[in-house]
Amino acid sequence: MADRHEAVHLLCLNAGISGRGGGFLDLPAERIEAITDTNYLGSVWPLRAFLPLLERGAPSDVVVVASVAGTAIPLTSGPYAASKHAQLAFARSVANELDPRGIRLHAVNPGPVPTPGFPQERTLARRIGRRLVVSPEHVADRIVRAVERDRREIVVPRVLRLAGIAQATAPGVLGRLAPHLRRFR
Ligand SMILES: NC(=O)c1ccc[n+]([C@@H]2O[C@H](COP(=O)([O-])OP(=O)(O)OC[C@H]3O[C@@H](n4cnc5c(N)ncnc54)[C@H](OP(=O)(O)O)[C@@H]3O)[C@@H](O)[C@H]2O)c1
Repeated sequence: MADRHEAVHLLCLNAGISGRGGGFLDLPAERIEAITDTNYLGSVWPLRAFLPLLERGAPSDVVVVASVAGTAIPLTSGPYAASKHAQLAFARSVANELDPRGIRLHAVNPGPVPTPGFPQERTLARRIGRRLVVSPEHVADRIVRAVERDRREIVVPRVLRLAGIAQATAPGVLGRLAPHLRRFR
């Protein structure tokens, strides 16, 4: 990479695969490992590989596309949510290591977005409110804004910040509600 580029000013860590609605007890072991490798370690290793070029490009920016599923458990595949929790914890933590090197990190937590890998046809959000389902273009727009305004962490759409607040303040209630909400998935 260093042969082709002197410096990097922006790195977007976006690769991710879904849990296809499966849980810890029914997904094949290989799928759980692939989800962990791609969604979590797929952010860690590229950041380390690009670090010298990002330092040369400083001030530079790193975007980590995590998920609302990284802030609250109930409405998605468990292995996917766990990988996104790990990825978001990585982003929040490494941001402080990057700061003194002139590299700003922006964690982006989208809610449901219809894309080839995440069609969203059967999700609860699709049924209860179209406002919760946003377009890829909308997320891209918010990512650009987060970089321009140096936002450390955003949720798209903003109202889904409530998911993380509910998880942090009432994990027991949310945990008990989850099986009922999942029936609508
Ligand atoms: N869509 C949603 O509802 C939603 C919500 C919250 C967060 N997200 C997150 O947003 C990110 C983008 O997802 P998306 O919705 O745009 O899904 P997508 O359309 O399926 O795109 C996924 C991207 O990840 C790449 N990728 C997958 N596995 C990879 C691997 N092992 N190595 C390198 N690249 C790999 C794919 O590349 P190829 O096409 O070359 O395979 C593709 O470009 C993911 O991190 C996802 O978890 C999505």
